Amino acid sequence: MSQKPLPGFRDFYPEQFAERAHIFETWRRVVRRYAFLEYDGPPLEPLELYTQKSGEEIVTQLYNFIDKGERPVAMRPEMTPTFARMVGAKAQTLRKPVRWFSLPQLFRYERTQKGRLREHFQLNVDMVGESDVLADAELLSIAIEIMRDFGLSDQDVRARVSDRRLLNGLLEHLAIPESLWTAVYAVLDKLERQPRELSAEKLAAAGLDSETADVILGFGAMDFATVCARYGDAPVVKPHLDRFADYLAHLEALGVASWIRFDLTIVRGLAYYTGIVFELFDNVGEFRAICGGGRYDNLLKSLGGADLPALGFGMGDVVIGELLRSRGLMRSSGTALEFWIAQSPEQADAPRLALQTAAAMRHAGGIVEYALKSQKLDKQLEAGRKAGASAFVIVDSASATAPWRVRRSGHDDQIFTSLEALCAWASSTNGSQS
Ligand code: HAM
Repeated sequence: MSQKPLPGFRDFYPEQFAERAHIFETWRRVVRRYAFLEYDGPPLEPLELYTQKSGEEIVTQLYNFIDKGERPVAMRPEMTPTFARMVGAKAQTLRKPVRWFSLPQLFRYERTQKGRLREHFQLNVDMVGESDVLADAELLSIAIEIMRDFGLSDQDVRARVSDRRLLNGLLEHLAIPESLWTAVYAVLDKLERQPRELSAEKLAAAGLDSETADVILGFGAMDFATVCARYGDAPVVKPHLDRFADYLAHLEALGVASWIRFDLTIVRGLAYYTGIVFELFDNVGEFRAICGGGRYDNLLKSLGGADLPALGFGMGDVVIGELLRSRGLMRSSGTALEFWIAQSPEQADAPRLALQTAAAMRHAGGIVEYALKSQKLDKQLEAGRKAGASAFVIVDSASATAPWRVRRSGHDDQIFTSLEALCAWASSTNGSQS
């Protein structure tokens, strides 16, 4: 038997779990400030939920099998189809806009590499029922606020934003037939990562003439003002530029403008996006995307639910973890031991009072541990120190004057003559604080 987990899967020893807890706590804290409610769905879904909706790349990465009831099923590779199904099924009764979030573990059979594993946890933040760009601005501001709460700044992270409707308008204006748009999307998506000649070859193979291909290859370098100046008068482009300008104005008012960069090469790999799309990256270009999302106005309807506009993003724990570690910003949120109970083993009934003390202090909310075998007092205190305790309660049932003695470094011993008084003190203090 191998001592290791499967490739792309992780063991979370307490140290790693404490880091994961820090990430989860930050996600929950920020998203709740925006009045989102937490939900969850099944980790196993019918295969067709993904084969129909997620797009080619994810489908090739599915963990799928036939279950014992002969059903084709898949471990969830993403949350959006489940979310759309759940909201679609109850859309009539839900207050709009729906503002929900979730922290699912997801499974994709990826080629494992830095930032890409075969399982990850992904914060999903989604809204349903609002088509106004105010909702798009609100959504992106949440992702950025999370970055801020992790201690990152606009010097560390950049949000690259685009709009599929604007891109479609540009392709239409350039007289590129709709049948070629998917191929153009695929080239734009990889523009930064593959040599320009290869991108040009792919556009030529798709049937674009070299002049049009050059325009597409120039999309990566165009800022918003340039697109407005060049295409602002084109009737199939203008409404989308106007909407995008409103979006940018809202982001400015929300105080996140310095984090944003317009970037037409952001198209997103998933098939269902229909409008504004975005991805967050570290500024150095060292890591994979931290987060990605956008508007997907047709997904609910196409899953047989209500016809409602929707938008959202997913942020994985892997890349943000790598980024925080590399910037010295990773924190741990584990539970620290507060009180160590020690006793005098020579006394016949000593364990009884020590155990009663531990039980009472735990009822009072203290984090309490003690040696699970009879040991000399010195050994017990040493074990307590190794466990990280800085407050010790030494129980002496033979003493009428000092049955409970609390010892903390930098303090005089404190004597308690009743368990109630000890517990009252314990709940008013944090044992690890000196
Ligand atoms: P996605 O771009 O596939 O979008 O994933 C979102 C984020 O999840 C990525 O930016 C990355 O941080 C993380 N991620 C994805 N795959 C892996 C992996 N194999 N290992 C580690 N991290 C990974 C979606 O999944 C959309 N469903 C997001 C969404 C929600 N759109 C609307 N609502």
